[in-house]
Amino acid sequence: MTPLPPWPTEPPRCGPVALRPFRDDDLAAVRELAADLYVPLIGSLPAHADDAQARAWITRQHDRWTTGAGFSVAATDLDDRMVGTVGLHLRDLGEGRATAGYAVLPSRRGHGYAAAALTALTAFAWTIAGLHRVALHVEPWNTASVRTAEAAGYSREGLLRSHTEIGGTGRDMVLYAAVR
Ligand SMILES: CC(C)(COP(=O)(O)OP(=O)(O)OC[C@H]1O[C@@H](n2cnc3c(N)ncnc32)[C@H](O)[C@@H]1OP(=O)(O)O)[C@@H](O)C(=O)NCCC(=O)NCCS
Repeated sequence: MTPLPPWPTEPPRCGPVALRPFRDDDLAAVRELAADLYVPLIGSLPAHADDAQARAWITRQHDRWTTGAGFSVAATDLDDRMVGTVGLHLRDLGEGRATAGYAVLPSRRGHGYAAAALTALTAFAWTIAGLHRVALHVEPWNTASVRTAEAAGYSREGLLRSHTEIGGTGRDMVLYAAVR
């Protein structure tokens, strides 16, 4: 396993968004994400998480760095309030590749936070030695995510048929990538 660099002391930023590790006071925001119909299907956050489940999820996100899985952090607004999450998954760092994911709180959508957060995450990714490619997997119907990927400079590479099991069915995924 390739050792991961530490999270930067100066938070990655783009526009109104900064990225930082989760804190205990993000609990209500994490619970709002858990109430979204789609977010729990594409990650490890339990649907309708209670306080204990949301706190355990936050702990698991901190642990991702220590286990070499990558970074999962909060995206925050100018008041340092959590508006969403971004993740950089680095299991394939040895081959120079990463994948990224993102979600914005239902109440904070439509303000450009996702594109800014993904832009900040991607700029941070290029500070990691040896990383040359960040990929995204987006369901074809997910227009907001497609727009987010394109706004952050990702290019569409093709359709991966029946690629990812989501909600018990194999879903097609559009592959987007950014290359250093
Ligand atoms: C995808 C997601 C992160 C976008 O977050 P956001 O902060 O609302 O995104 P932005 O405000 O940056 O908007 C991105 C673009 O999508 C458009 N958009 C937003 N919601 C939309 C919708 N429901 N349908 C169509 N377009 C939409 C916006 O107008 C914007 O386009 P523009 O830049 O051309 O104006 C958010 O919808 C989300 O968390 N969805 C659930 C989790 C998810 O799908 N994650 C991605 C998995 S690949």
